[in-house]
Amino acid sequence: MKLLDALQWRYAVKRMNGTKIPAETLETILEATRLAPSSFGLTPYNIIVIEDQATKLKLQPHFYNQPQIGESSAVVIFAAHTSITEKDVDAYMQEIAEQRNMPVEGLKDFSGYVKGAIAHQSQEQLQAWATKQTYIALGFALVAAATEQVDGTPMEGFDPAAVDAELGLAAHGLHATVALTLGYRDAANDYLSSAVKVRRTADKLIIKK
Ligand SMILES: Cc1cc2nc3c(=O)[nH]c(=O)nc-3n(C[C@H](O)[C@H](O)[C@H](O)COP(=O)(O)O)c2cc1C
Repeated sequence: MKLLDALQWRYAVKRMNGTKIPAETLETILEATRLAPSSFGLTPYNIIVIEDQATKLKLQPHFYNQPQIGESSAVVIFAAHTSITEKDVDAYMQEIAEQRNMPVEGLKDFSGYVKGAIAHQSQEQLQAWATKQTYIALGFALVAAATEQVDGTPMEGFDPAAVDAELGLAAHGLHATVALTLGYRDAANDYLSSAVKVRRTADKLIIKK
């Protein structure tokens, strides 16, 4: 399916039919999500993938009982890092050095630049910045799912503190920001399955200068 056809086809599904996504397809979507860019490439978030039905059902009340949670094949939680320190920058430099097969000393200037950028920000500001990065990953996941003909519902309708507690995220320095259910639409029971997609028209949305 061509990109624009896939994006017209997708919508935020309210009811899913419980069909499992083939493992390879899920991996493709997750790999596309992993390839999302982030500021400096620091990737200050983690992606939690839940396929276990019992865990999904435990989460559902924290999503105000939206049925897609239990009816999905997988729930993906995007969780921002609650602290970003020089240690994280050092770990990232190490990863670059390993993946590009170069000495970490060669990254001194870049490392100093990134450390300088985080130095004067409070942990609250850094967490807000990390949160923005999670939405870029969400966008990649949504597009990847559509291209794979997998339905995906982006979700902010949940109690982040309750989700953090249910999944023990705080202990790992994580805070749930946004979620994505992945699965297949139950068209017969979803009032939106045949609805026309509504978007601001290009002439109202795009300003050309
Ligand atoms: C960040 C974000 C949070 C959303 N939260 C929810 C949600 O909790 N539950 C839900 O059913 N849809 C949710 N939506 C879906 C939007 O309502 C939907 O994407 C929008 O109305 C456009 O429609 P479409 O995606 O079906 O084309 C969310 C979308 C985004 C981008």
